[in-house]
Amino acid sequence: MKAAVIEQQGGPENIVYRNWPDPRPGSGDVLVRVKACGLNHLDIFVRRGMPGLPVPMPFISGGDIAGIVEFVGGEVSGLKVGARVLLNPSTPAGMMGEQIQGGLAELAVCPASHVVPIPSGVTFEQAACLPVAYGTARRMLLTRAKLKAGQTILILGASGGVGSAAVQIAKHIGARVIACAGTDEKCQRLSQIGADHVINYHEQDFSREAWRLTDKEGVDVAINFTGGDTWVPSLRAIRKQGCLVTCGATAGFDPQTDIRYIWTRELDILGSDGWTTQDIAALLDDVAGQRLEPIISHVFPLEHAREAEELMEARGIFGKILLVP
Ligand SMILES: NC(=O)c1ccc[n+]([C@@H]2O[C@H](COP(=O)([O-])OP(=O)(O)OC[C@H]3O[C@@H](n4cnc5c(N)ncnc54)[C@H](OP(=O)(O)O)[C@@H]3O)[C@@H](O)[C@H]2O)c1
Repeated sequence: MKAAVIEQQGGPENIVYRNWPDPRPGSGDVLVRVKACGLNHLDIFVRRGMPGLPVPMPFISGGDIAGIVEFVGGEVSGLKVGARVLLNPSTPAGMMGEQIQGGLAELAVCPASHVVPIPSGVTFEQAACLPVAYGTARRMLLTRAKLKAGQTILILGASGGVGSAAVQIAKHIGARVIACAGTDEKCQRLSQIGADHVINYHEQDFSREAWRLTDKEGVDVAINFTGGDTWVPSLRAIRKQGCLVTCGATAGFDPQTDIRYIWTRELDILGSDGWTTQDIAALLDDVAGQRLEPIISHVFPLEHAREAEELMEARGIFGKILLVP
């Protein structure tokens, strides 16, 4: 098969589109012909290398995989060749595209237990937007923050995959959304998808602005997967007994903190990691029922995986990038 292979850790020049041996399914697995694979910031971390998380090189990343079942293992029941499916990449053997082979390839293997049928009316591209970004946003908002209608939520990095998904899901719940992004154009797009207030954090102090917008009460929930120097201003923007949820640290995982905000305001700092197969099925249902329209920023042929990652690294996206073999 053909694949976008990371030859060694480093810059995007290390991604080479080339031949790779076909993956071999076990008796409990399915082999899927990939029709679309979503890109995530994780793919950049995998390529660059993460402290304490070694990745075997050469490697195929890509966790958001939608395609057609090409072969089912002897012990698999309930799945047929030809079925349109979306994979939950968080498998017992490891995360696809991070620990085991991912979907930036023509073929991928997945345990049958982690395969979800794609309902009719949902395209492969729409489905491949969902697991990592929308699954993570759903867990952060519903399971961890328990966001409710009428609450105010501050979302940093709102233009990216997880961020734009969080804006959509928060609006669906009925929350008031304050969304932050790095350009006026991205802020405009955020307004178009329903954000009630937008803040360009390169031009305005987002913490001060969130405080002003909430009549100096603070937000109920802050979503911060940026870390770095956004950490303390995020704490400062939260109301008494509000919460901050984090699932990552795009700009740095060891920020300075200010614990005074945590005790004086009795803040809850919540971690969130991953999603469940039920989250993915519920998201597919929402797309099929036209309650959710995944935001597709760009679609590239798989040969152009390098350009796609360069675009993501340059923060030139709004929503999801998809690669199509
Ligand atoms: N634990 C989990 O289960 C889980 C799952 C998914 C993702 N994550 C984490 O969540 C974070 C976001 O992932 P994603 O796939 O949504 O990323 P993405 O699509 O690249 O979006 C990230 C957004 O953050 C903003 N940003 C702020 N500072 C940045 C910086 N220093 N470098 C790059 N972007 C920066 C950018 O928007 P502006 O240019 O508008 O500022 C960018 O669009 C990552 O850290 C990822 O590892 C964790």
